[in-house]
Amino acid sequence: MMLMLRVRVAMPTAVRCSMFLLTAWLMVRNAGAVTTATSSLSSRLVHRFSDEVKELRFSGNGSANGSSWPGRKWSIEYYQMLLSSDFRRQNMKLGAQYQLLFPSQGSKTMSFGNDFGWLHYTWIDIGTPNVSFLVALDAGSDLLWVPCDCVQCAPLSAGYYSSLDRDLNEYNPSGSSTSKHLSCSHQLCESGPNCKGPKQSCSYTINYFSENTSSSGLLVEDVLHLASGGENASKYLVHAPVIIGCGMNQSGGYLDGVAPDGLMGLGLGELAVPSILAKAGLVRNSFSMCFNEDDSGRIFFGDLGPARQQSTSFLPLDGIYKTYIVGVEGCCIGNSCLKQTNFRALIDSGTSFTFLPDDVYEKITKEFDRHVNATRSSYEGSPWRYCYESSSQESLEVPSLTLVFPLNNSFVVHNPVFTIHGDQGVLGFCLAIQPADGDIGTIGQNFMTGYRMVFDRESLKLAWSRSNCQDLSDGKRMPLASPSGTPLNPLPTNEQQSSPGGHAVAPAVAGRAPSKPSAASSQLIASRFCLLRLLPELLLLVNIISVFKADTGII
Ligand SMILES: *[C@@H]1O[C@H](CO)[C@@H](O)[C@H](O)[C@H]1NC(C)=O
Ligand SMILES: *[C@@H]1O[C@H](CO)[C@@H](O)[C@H](O)[C@H]1NC(C)=O
Ligand SMILES: *[C@@H]1O[C@H](CO)[C@@H](O)[C@H](O)[C@H]1NC(C)=O
Ligand SMILES: *[C@@H]1O[C@H](CO)[C@@H](O)[C@H](O)[C@H]1NC(C)=O
Ligand SMILES: *[C@@H]1O[C@H](CO)[C@@H](O)[C@H](O)[C@H]1NC(C)=O
Ligand SMILES: *[C@@H]1O[C@H](CO)[C@@H](O)[C@H](O)[C@H]1NC(C)=O
Ligand SMILES: *[C@@H]1O[C@H](CO)[C@@H](O)[C@H](O)[C@H]1NC(C)=O
Ligand SMILES: *[C@@H]1O[C@H](CO)[C@@H](O)[C@H](O)[C@H]1NC(C)=O
Repeated sequence: MMLMLRVRVAMPTAVRCSMFLLTAWLMVRNAGAVTTATSSLSSRLVHRFSDEVKELRFSGNGSANGSSWPGRKWSIEYYQMLLSSDFRRQNMKLGAQYQLLFPSQGSKTMSFGNDFGWLHYTWIDIGTPNVSFLVALDAGSDLLWVPCDCVQCAPLSAGYYSSLDRDLNEYNPSGSSTSKHLSCSHQLCESGPNCKGPKQSCSYTINYFSENTSSSGLLVEDVLHLASGGENASKYLVHAPVIIGCGMNQSGGYLDGVAPDGLMGLGLGELAVPSILAKAGLVRNSFSMCFNEDDSGRIFFGDLGPARQQSTSFLPLDGIYKTYIVGVEGCCIGNSCLKQTNFRALIDSGTSFTFLPDDVYEKITKEFDRHVNATRSSYEGSPWRYCYESSSQESLEVPSLTLVFPLNNSFVVHNPVFTIHGDQGVLGFCLAIQPADGDIGTIGQNFMTGYRMVFDRESLKLAWSRSNCQDLSDGKRMPLASPSGTPLNPLPTNEQQSSPGGHAVAPAVAGRAPSKPSAASSQLIASRFCLLRLLPELLLLVNIISVFKADTGII
């Protein structure tokens, strides 16, 4: 189980400027790797940073709007900003190079249930020759890292995991002709100040909110193999240069069943793959994830969603858009909408379940309980307080839960409960919500089921539409490859507990902590740390299910 991702190396403010260097670097790399039309970049924009334009853009205020103004006119930064600015404009005019991109093995994502901490995963190919990795998808963090030159990594052999039919790989940068260590002088090297020299390789350390869970190693540049979508899908392979964490030393949950083969951060930070792809002009600055009920799903880079979809704006934290936070105006159970159930929530695909601020949690659960027509049951020691007996899934009548957003947008949670399975079928169900101390909740992956969730970073909004993750709204069937069969299992069963190689893994809660704790964000951190306490309890639930089975003699 992983909890919120936490970058120990504090994000320096200088990072804001560094995107330009990255962009410049990407363009150089692109020139060779992808057939981009970047050759005509330099001439048109000589006047871009003229004083008039400056005046216009900054309305005399001097405070940069999302980007910084290069200080000296003919400095390196000036040229780099020219390039990136030019590139942005070109994108505005021509649109991005590809409508949609997805991993070269297909857009398909999958959840292995309990075996891999209830997160969604996808296969990606990295390097030359390419090597495959099954990475966890985490909207709550930025870095893409994979097990690499392992000092301490999770077991990688298929035999260790009941859900896998092939061994997991280890990345070896020296075996990839397109790889290159990121040097300490690189603007995106956060550990730069601690380096012995500018030529030294840049190291990274990420601490996740799961207790003692971390990944550390060196940053490298290498290509991520993607395919382009649209009518003639998979016709074009795109070799996108990205920054990858060569994860030499993993600890905690990463040694123990969550993200054993790496994790792809999909956050707003500059290191995140969606950010790099958009900056390079390959796709629009947006991506979507769709989680189907059968544990399959899709990921598309560049997806802005269908024309008709609901949406809500992301909210800044301390004036900065650090992570995907939205403001819920209120909640409804069935037709009864509850007063004073507004709250802010993190949208995090790296979190298995949903956490609501205490007061909202109390109101919602009480109302939910009032609507449920089933016998309440409790599993002693379990953190799930609202559980009910049920003999079969068919007879389940679960009241609907709706999140209401500004401007009449609403989000009907497709399945707010999880079922508890015994060997003979369903034993009961629990409302899959936990209280989160503090005023920021987390909308986890379970609430996103049945939706195509669009993380529109261009318009800074979250958008959603009901979907079976098969068809996009334009009626085109989306391309997919199925790299491997995936047994479906939303929650641990007893078989899973006893099967050789089966693990009891606690649900994951991932996401990067705000890098600069402040009044608001430390509250977020505080609420996150509370989740830590749940871990043993959640594991306990797994045991309780077995005990329950034994006691009742149901099997
Ligand atoms: C300039 O910026 C400050 C703070 O960033 C803001 O309060 C002020 O309204 C701005 N002035 C103009 C003219 O935009
Ligand atoms: C930033 O610039 C965009 C357009 O360039 C504008 O719509 C927006 O209001 C600006 N934001 C601020 C805070 O100045
Ligand atoms: C990956 O390598 C295999 C051969 O090892 C090749 O068949 C395949 O096309 C490559 N995939 C990409 C995306 O380059
Ligand atoms: C985390 O590490 C500390 C110190 O090594 C240890 O005391 C604690 O039990 C660990 N927590 C977990 C959940 O493993
Ligand atoms: C797809 O490929 C077919 C045949 O190769 C071609 O006729 C068609 O124009 C292509 N469509 C697009 C959108 O590129
Ligand atoms: C790996 O990381 C953990 C946590 O940071 C640390 O305690 C351990 O000493 C590291 N192991 C090695 C071999 O570097
Ligand atoms: C509640 O359940 C009982 C028995 O399971 C059934 O007879 C009754 O119709 C149900 N009521 C509602 C409102 O669904
Ligand atoms: C909001 O949506 C509801 C139902 O979809 C509709 O009845 C109502 O008129 C809408 N209100 C506004 C202000 O659009």
